[in-house]
Amino acid sequence: MRIDIISVQPNLLESPFQHSIMKRAQQKGLLQVVLHDLKDYGIGKHRQVDDYQFGGGAGMVMMVGPLSDCIEKLQKERSYDEIIFLTPDGQRLEQSISNQLSLKENLLLICGHYKGIDERIREHFVTMEISIGDFVLSGGELAAAVLVDSIGRLIPGVLNDETSALFDSFQDGILAPPVYTRPANFRGWEVPEILTSGNFPKIEEWRHEQALERTAERRPDLMDKINKHER
Ligand code: ADE
Repeated sequence: MRIDIISVQPNLLESPFQHSIMKRAQQKGLLQVVLHDLKDYGIGKHRQVDDYQFGGGAGMVMMVGPLSDCIEKLQKERSYDEIIFLTPDGQRLEQSISNQLSLKENLLLICGHYKGIDERIREHFVTMEISIGDFVLSGGELAAAVLVDSIGRLIPGVLNDETSALFDSFQDGILAPPVYTRPANFRGWEVPEILTSGNFPKIEEWRHEQALERTAERRPDLMDKINKHER
C-alpha cells in the first residue's frame, strides 16, 4: 500500500513512521509513506498557501490553488482509492474504517492547518473526511499519523504474529482482556491462576468472559451494539 500525505508541516510526520511497526512495514515493502510539502505548490516568492477568509473572521484558510495543483499532480501519477481529509468535523475514526482502508492500494491524505481548507477542495477532490475524536488539534498531521498507524498494522504481513491484530480491542467489537507476563508473583501480586494452568480452552473462555466484563463496565455503548447484532 502507498499512502501520500500533503502537509504544510511535513517535518511533523517524519518521525512517527521511522520506528517500530511502521518502520518494519516499510522495510518489508508492504507500506510506503510519501510526504509532500504543500509549500512547494505555494504562490509567489513566499510560497503562500493560505489567505484571509471571504466574509471576514479570524484565522487563515488554506487556498484552493496550491492544494488542487498538488492533488492533480499526484493524481497524474496514480489513481487513489480514497482522498481523505483529516478534520474534526469528519466521520469519527473506528476500527472498522481502518480495517476497510487497510485493503486499499493508494490513499491520499490531506492535513488541514489554520482555520481549515477552502471548501471547494472538499467538494471536488475529497472522498472521505475523518476525525480522530471530538477535540481540535492544531493541524491534521497528528491525526494523519494516528490513521496511518492504525491502517498500517493491519496490512497482511506487517505484524509478526499474524493473529495478534485479531485480538486487539475493538477488532471484534469488544475491548481486549487483561494480560500478564513474568513474574507470576510480584510483591505478592498474583497472576490469575487460570493463566498458568495450561488448560487452553479454559483460558480462552476466561479471556472472553473478562473481555465482555470489561466492555460492559467501561463501554456499555459497545455492548449495546453487540446485543443489537445478536438480535
Ligand atoms: N484536525 C484537527 N483536529 C482534528 C481531529 N480531531 N481529527 C482529525 N483531524 C483534525
